[in-house]
Amino acid sequence: MTEAITLSGAAASRGGAPVWSGVDLSIARGEFVAVLGPNGAGKSTFLDVVLGLLPLSTGGVSVLGEAPRAARVRIGYLPQRRSFDASTRVRGIDVVRLGLDGARWGLPLPTALSPTARAANAKVDEVVELVGAGGYAERPIGTLSGGEQQRLLIPQALVRDPQMLLLDEPLDSLDLPNQSAVAALVQRICRTQGVTVVLVAHDVNPILGYLDRVVYFAGGRGVEGPPRDVIQADVLSELYGSPIEVVETQSGRLIVVGTPDAHGHDGGCGGHDHASDAEPVHADPAVAERGPAG
Ligand SMILES: Nc1ncnc2c1ncn2[C@@H]1O[C@H](COP(=O)(O)OP(=O)(O)OP(=O)(O)O)[C@@H](O)[C@H]1O
Ligand SMILES: [Mg+2]
Repeated sequence: MTEAITLSGAAASRGGAPVWSGVDLSIARGEFVAVLGPNGAGKSTFLDVVLGLLPLSTGGVSVLGEAPRAARVRIGYLPQRRSFDASTRVRGIDVVRLGLDGARWGLPLPTALSPTARAANAKVDEVVELVGAGGYAERPIGTLSGGEQQRLLIPQALVRDPQMLLLDEPLDSLDLPNQSAVAALVQRICRTQGVTVVLVAHDVNPILGYLDRVVYFAGGRGVEGPPRDVIQADVLSELYGSPIEVVETQSGRLIVVGTPDAHGHDGGCGGHDHASDAEPVHADPAVAERGPAG
């Protein structure tokens, strides 16, 4: 069994409303996959399905060769939108440690170091070093920048040696060089540890060179394939149900032009140009190339 995730004829609904349907996909073990699409297209819903938190309304899903619920213990998951209040005193390293203990906030580290505790600490240190966060992991997490916090949440999902990592927008407060750096790191984890990584991303360009595959949700549908096969005018036009252009710059950036409003099904999508909006695959290279926001 080499498949990490398969969906066949899959449909998902939330609150009685369909999110996407007719989705067939197959992700192999050890692949680095980005999940793309406009806000509300059902990217996080897809992760909920893979985690067994949301049953499909139709169709089948298999995760690491079994039902999603059964596979969940072998998955590391980083949910969307996490932030720590500036007054949070828990150290970064303790947050990583929580991924191991699955415990509550404020868990004291054992004072008398049993071999088990020592092994746990070594594992935490290893994954912290893996993401290059050693320099600030001992500081209270509330005093770290958004990007530093983000970086420490990846080892939290990684510390239990999962076979699959599901990361919901892990790059969202990182500047462009750091988006690429984290993508390179994630690719290395894929390659060296054989972990399948499914990463929800807002802008594909900084990570394009690292990906094996993309899953693109829009207009109530979903398609998957190699990035440059999916991010194509005809594929996206079909998916959105309106004309979409894809332009490739000399530097290899993909620019998607003409995406309708996020909810392709809620009317009012005259196919007007959103070239300056922050669409999932950025329509405006200047937006993405402006670099660090702060
Ligand atoms: N718990 C819920 N109850 C009802 N509707 C929900 C629920 N969660 C999500 N939805 C709806 O399901 C649709 C898909 O949401 P989802 O969170 O999967 O989108 P997304 O692609 O992850 O968007 P974003 O880019 O904003 O994170 C949206 O229309 C959303 O409003
Ligand atoms: Mg989401």
